[in-house]
Amino acid sequence: MKNFIEVTELKKVFGNGKDEVHAFGPATININAGEFVSILGPSGCGKSTLMLMVAGLLDSTSGKVEFESKLVNGPKTDIGIMFQDNTLVPWRTVKGNIELQLELRGLNLKDYQDQIYNILKSVNLEDFAERFPNELSGGMQQRAAFCQAMIHDPKIILLDEPLGKLDAMTREKIRADFQKLWMVKKPTVIFVTHSIEEAVQLSSRVILITPRPGKIDREIKIDLPYPRDLKVKRSTKFIEYVNSIQEVFHKYGVI
Ligand SMILES: Nc1ncnc2c1ncn2[C@@H]1O[C@H](COP(=O)(O)OP(=O)(O)O)[C@@H](O)[C@H]1O
Ligand SMILES: [Mg+2]
Repeated sequence: MKNFIEVTELKKVFGNGKDEVHAFGPATININAGEFVSILGPSGCGKSTLMLMVAGLLDSTSGKVEFESKLVNGPKTDIGIMFQDNTLVPWRTVKGNIELQLELRGLNLKDYQDQIYNILKSVNLEDFAERFPNELSGGMQQRAAFCQAMIHDPKIILLDEPLGKLDAMTREKIRADFQKLWMVKKPTVIFVTHSIEEAVQLSSRVILITPRPGKIDREIKIDLPYPRDLKVKRSTKFIEYVNSIQEVFHKYGVI
């Protein structure tokens, strides 16, 4: 049986001649429906390059990406994407930004009013629906961007260091929000991060990527109960996962 998402021998080389940069791969990754998979690797190993290829926003040099056996060969609109820099437009309110995503997909706004309220409430933003992005803190903006990425209920969600610029406390809170939403809706998530702890906390499986050109070092199934709250994070097993991954990157000399 085919996997829900199949990345096969995917490789990217930018430029040519002496300007050539072998950014990623070749790498093969198979993901089942409903998995929460983290791609964990040092800065510059090609994680964003991989995500852009998976989203159909960047052509590969060789190899292929398939969703439900269908080749990805152009930008995908039926997925949810969230990158480090949020995609909120400054001239629309929080609600207006969420509606923009629906408009772009030709969906009827009237049908989504309850869902907009509910998703804002799920991240404690329901009182900020009529505010503009510049009236929100960084963490609130990321939460709004999260609602924007999720409002059309995508089956596949690609997150590229969405929490990268936030302070530790806000990160922790938004991680919990992500986790809650994933537990309820069970989308298939690919989450890129360079935080070992974040990867272990959220994922059902962590894929370790080598320094550039990123290749798969190993995959680690994270066998811990959800929700992974503070109690789970303090458990010996959690700490062992984190330590064993640290050792791998220590061997590469990146930590
Ligand atoms: N458009 C591009 N043109 C040339 N080189 C690029 C381009 N995008 C990324 N790279 C290079 O590819 C490598 C991997 O980048 P990236 O995928 O952003 O890594 P990561 O997300 O893991 O930090 C880096 O060396 C980067 O400089
Ligand atoms: Mg990146």
